[in-house]
Amino acid sequence: MRVHGTPYRTVWMDGATVHLIDQNRLPFDFAVESCADHRATAEAIRRMTVRGAPAIGAAAAFALAQAFLEAGRDPWPHARAARALIEGTRPTARDLFHATERVWAAAEAAPHGAAATEAAVEAARALAEEGVASCRRIGEHGAALVAHGARVLTHCNAGWLATVDHGTALAPVYAAAADGKRPHVWVDETRPRAQGARLTAWELAGEGVPHAVIADNAAAFLMSRGEVDLVIVGADRVAANGDVVNKVGTLAKAVCAREFGIPFYVAAPPSTFDAGVPDGASVTIEERSADEVHFQTGPDETGTLRRIRVTAPGSPARNPAFDATPARLVTGYVTEHGVFAPGELPAAAYPAVRAAAV
Ligand code: MRU
Repeated sequence: MRVHGTPYRTVWMDGATVHLIDQNRLPFDFAVESCADHRATAEAIRRMTVRGAPAIGAAAAFALAQAFLEAGRDPWPHARAARALIEGTRPTARDLFHATERVWAAAEAAPHGAAATEAAVEAARALAEEGVASCRRIGEHGAALVAHGARVLTHCNAGWLATVDHGTALAPVYAAAADGKRPHVWVDETRPRAQGARLTAWELAGEGVPHAVIADNAAAFLMSRGEVDLVIVGADRVAANGDVVNKVGTLAKAVCAREFGIPFYVAAPPSTFDAGVPDGASVTIEERSADEVHFQTGPDETGTLRRIRVTAPGSPARNPAFDATPARLVTGYVTEHGVFAPGELPAAAYPAVRAAAV
């Protein structure tokens, strides 16, 4: 996608350096962070400089490739430690583990140390490219669900910033907009980190897609008044039974959508589907710092970034980052292979190999 007319990807690797759009500074400042080694890239994932399941996956793949490039003739001890560090950054998105497993498997299949490094770099690049192609196809398939003038509600950011390019939930919106259908997007604010208000709104403004940010609590009201035609969200992990783990608050949208007869779609590439976990209840849910609930950061009237407290001093807070939506509340999964109802997901929606962990 373009930023001020220049084409960008969310994350890319140039030689041994990984570059990431700094999502912690958006929408107030556009900056690219450059990570010279795997530790810096892993830290960028941990700090959420890069976030969104497929983008995390690409960054993790590049980080492991960096580790192979940093290592000497026997890359394995260094790469093994790097893999553990990368896999310890964020626990929920399947894409991260899919990425490390895939890069590792490619390196292991190589005949010797130098070839292993080459194979790791090649696998990381291929993973990022395939992610882009997958999201493009999600957009093509999903656009058919978006009628002329449709009012789409989305949660969190599952746009191009959350992937290497195009997005998952927003890919159909962008494709429909390109077809001249003039969709309108209700953007859930998505407290506590406000990925909707900050990132999705910034993206949609950049692409010229009509939208409005709503407080998370306003979604059910808009649905009850007939002002939402469909919901599309992304996913961090889709379990074998079709349960969807995504940004906390997704479950509430799915319950409301069912109550008001509104279709609820989940868009995701194969790297997010996990045949190895039976259901949503079995997925590790990241618990983040209570400070994300207590504090908000933004510019004051002079443009200076300020961090302010928004909760009662002394009150504790709890901050689960994701929730699990049962498959029965999902109308359809928008995949690179097409749109499928729960129970009808083809085996091809899941990656062919779930490589062994080390
Ligand atoms: O904590 P985040 O910002 O990484 O969470 C992101 C989400 O929950 C997205 O909806 C999900 O990763 C899908 S991204 C295409």
